[in-house]
Amino acid sequence: MGKPARPLQPLTLTAEDINSNLAYAEQQLLKTENRLEENVHPRFTPTDFQGGQWLTIDTKDWRAGFFNGSEWMMFEVFGDNANGWRQKAEARTRAFSAEMSRPQTHDIGFKALNTYAQALRLTGLEEFKPKIFEAANTLGNRFMPEHGVTKSWEDANGELRVIIDNMMNLEIFFLAADLTTNAEDRDRWLKMAVTHAVTSEKNHIRDSSDPNIDGSTCHVFFYNRGVCKTHQGIADSSTWTRGQAWAMYGYAMAYRYTKKWPQYAKEAELFLATAQRTSDLYLRRLAEPRNGDWIPLHDFDAEEGAPKDTSAAALAAAALIELSTIDKVESDKRGRYKVAAESMLATLSRPSGDKPYRTTASPEDVAQESILLRATTSFATAGGGKKDIERGLSYADYYFLEALLRFQDVYGGKPRAPGFVKAAKTAAGVDVTWSETRGAATYTVKRAASAAGPFETIGTTTEPKFTDTKAPAGQVLHYVVTATNHAQAESVASLVASPAAMASAP
Ligand code: GLY
Repeated sequence: MGKPARPLQPLTLTAEDINSNLAYAEQQLLKTENRLEENVHPRFTPTDFQGGQWLTIDTKDWRAGFFNGSEWMMFEVFGDNANGWRQKAEARTRAFSAEMSRPQTHDIGFKALNTYAQALRLTGLEEFKPKIFEAANTLGNRFMPEHGVTKSWEDANGELRVIIDNMMNLEIFFLAADLTTNAEDRDRWLKMAVTHAVTSEKNHIRDSSDPNIDGSTCHVFFYNRGVCKTHQGIADSSTWTRGQAWAMYGYAMAYRYTKKWPQYAKEAELFLATAQRTSDLYLRRLAEPRNGDWIPLHDFDAEEGAPKDTSAAALAAAALIELSTIDKVESDKRGRYKVAAESMLATLSRPSGDKPYRTTASPEDVAQESILLRATTSFATAGGGKKDIERGLSYADYYFLEALLRFQDVYGGKPRAPGFVKAAKTAAGVDVTWSETRGAATYTVKRAASAAGPFETIGTTTEPKFTDTKAPAGQVLHYVVTATNHAQAESVASLVASPAAMASAP
């Protein structure tokens, strides 16, 4: 008989926890930034069961962008402080220039999203936009219409494999579709993204009357053979926890973008349902005593005492926060998702015991660079093998920071400013659009005759779009948008957007 199930106790994540983790992150990222040239990036720490100084990779590696993504978050949080995050992050982003069009695996999505997409969101510089389109086309070249998916890899015999991880890379299609003014490109990118997500739901998400299996994921689908196997989990029939978390995050993200397009309303519903099914399975399995706390074993079917994976926990927390804000999710469930995400982040945030999940290095201790500990690349009996076990991992740190910021957006402090604000002149006036801010209850649109302000409020809206029907004629106008959350906290203003050719406005 196994141990009886004992519910995991909810933990609280305070504003102080978030702030002290962000300050600690800044300290740790600075050590790495000071040590590594801008075309050399963190991979994982060198020894199993330990932190340390990052082993490194060049821009071609799939993990290369995560450190740059973390730097952009530092710029977002701390602005242009004495550490000069914008300049550092921008220089590192530019090192990825050739990478956006280099033929490579599905991981081009991770790289572009962490580098040029963040650069555009946080600086508004138009020169970054074509890089996002290049990356979408690089991923698009991997789309296999006969199978309805972007391929991960193929071996020397032409055997095509797709991993559940690919769900994450679809965001570059969705983002490019939102940003382009070319309808043909938009429709093509959207179609590939939606089709891949629908196909993956069929081939990777298990259906079963057993609640320990229903909504779980299998890792690698072999399209030539029609079978699904594992690469990094312990068995073809097991549930590798990071794969499960890629699915949770990937389907929540796919819902966020797809729901905007009426022609894909049915698919948007499927994506939201799938994000919930995969999340519900994750939480049911996490409650099994073998995990011991809010951080999962590397595989939900592993034996008690097997390695943990903090990267899966950070990803799952980020996904659950997103789902906890969606009105269409039943309110009890939203509450459970919030409690679970908060408890996961609190567990990761507070180093304690002899096997802590987070480092506690001093600023002088340059030999300790990662933020989190105990992230596992692979602990498989075959396939990916046993490698890089319970170490610091660049994407564990990235998703930990992202989840902390998502939690702050919705449940503490101020939400982040809306990103990707665009203003375009139309017959009806000026259309102002932006990307959603998680946790925003309303958005306030403000207009000024000078980019330096003062900005005057011209309307509030719950949707990420607004038409200024009273734009004065013959003037160059400028717009900013703020987000206000349910606690009435208003973000700082977005970057300024100015429609081209306003001088000829109606
Ligand atoms: N996408 C590779 C991994 O999750 O390890």
